[in-house]
Amino acid sequence: MPVPGPDDVVLAVEAVAVSRAETAFRAGDPPLARLATGLRRPRNRVLGGDVGGRVVAVGERVIRVQRGDRVVAQTGIAMGGYARHVRVPAASVVPVPDGVGTHEAVALVEGGSTALPFLRDHAHVRPGTRLLVHGAAGAVGAAAVQLAAHLGADVTGVCGPDHVALVRSLGAATVVDRTVTPVERVRGTFDVVLDAVGASSFRRCRHLLAPRGLYLTTVPSAGILVRTALRPLARGRTAAIAFTGLRPAADKASDAVHLLGLAADGAVRGVVDRTWPLEEAAAAHAYVDAGHKAGAVLLLP
Ligand SMILES: NC(=O)c1ccc[n+]([C@@H]2O[C@H](COP(=O)([O-])OP(=O)(O)OC[C@H]3O[C@@H](n4cnc5c(N)ncnc54)[C@H](OP(=O)(O)O)[C@@H]3O)[C@@H](O)[C@H]2O)c1
Repeated sequence: MPVPGPDDVVLAVEAVAVSRAETAFRAGDPPLARLATGLRRPRNRVLGGDVGGRVVAVGERVIRVQRGDRVVAQTGIAMGGYARHVRVPAASVVPVPDGVGTHEAVALVEGGSTALPFLRDHAHVRPGTRLLVHGAAGAVGAAAVQLAAHLGADVTGVCGPDHVALVRSLGAATVVDRTVTPVERVRGTFDVVLDAVGASSFRRCRHLLAPRGLYLTTVPSAGILVRTALRPLARGRTAAIAFTGLRPAADKASDAVHLLGLAADGAVRGVVDRTWPLEEAAAAHAYVDAGHKAGAVLLLP
């Protein structure tokens, strides 16, 4: 078991999410990203950035967290969560409220920590906002549908046929089966289109946007990076990407507190698709790589 530094805690990991970012990191995809993640092999050998479990050791300066606390933590680029124990800064851990399961908490924080800043800080979703979420069943999409519905938005979710019932249950007023109606043929006018899986483009969604509507995506491309840079000069419909993983740890922790508070109130829930024992991480990665999970895939050490 690792020894905590003065400001750290050690968690006995009960669940760790397998995110799309992690499977891309493992695969060295896209190749340009290897400049940051490791040229010939992953620089960081132990993946796992969204973990939940019990605190089993605390550093000498830690007063806010105690042994036995049930918590989640986002380890950021340090990762290290695919393990029985992980050492994390005490400032990054957030208590899981009674009534919220640890697995559910990890799932909600994985997707919600992206969906929340996208909706709140970039889309400025408020009651009555007309929002279309593309990829509405994924980790980010499932959280986005629920959070936006909770904020009073009029949510349309686009997903595959296996996930229509799920997306409706998450609060989407309208659900579009993308295999029946591709995004180019969707009808309606939206203040915001959020592509949570990078399967569309501004050009393909432009017809859906209100005159000053915003197309947001979580997945980078050359086109969206240019449009984001030029957005201050643009008039009418605009497009942008944001990168939530790079936010300060304190901001992520405070968002996790908010998300878990909403879960405790029954306003949102974590969606868990499947779990695997830690030893079967390769099978979990293959499932995530297939691209059709609903919510989160978890490893259980
Ligand atoms: N920018 C950021 O800060 C940031 C943060 C987090 C994640 N991301 C990125 O966001 C992306 C999504 O992450 P995630 O964890 O939500 O993914 P995910 O959970 O793996 O998304 C899976 C969903 O994608 C849908 N899907 C698959 N192919 C599709 C297609 N051709 N058209 C539309 N939907 C399709 C599937 O739904 P159906 O089969 O039902 O259609 C499935 O439910 C990843 O690329 C990740 O790296 C970016």
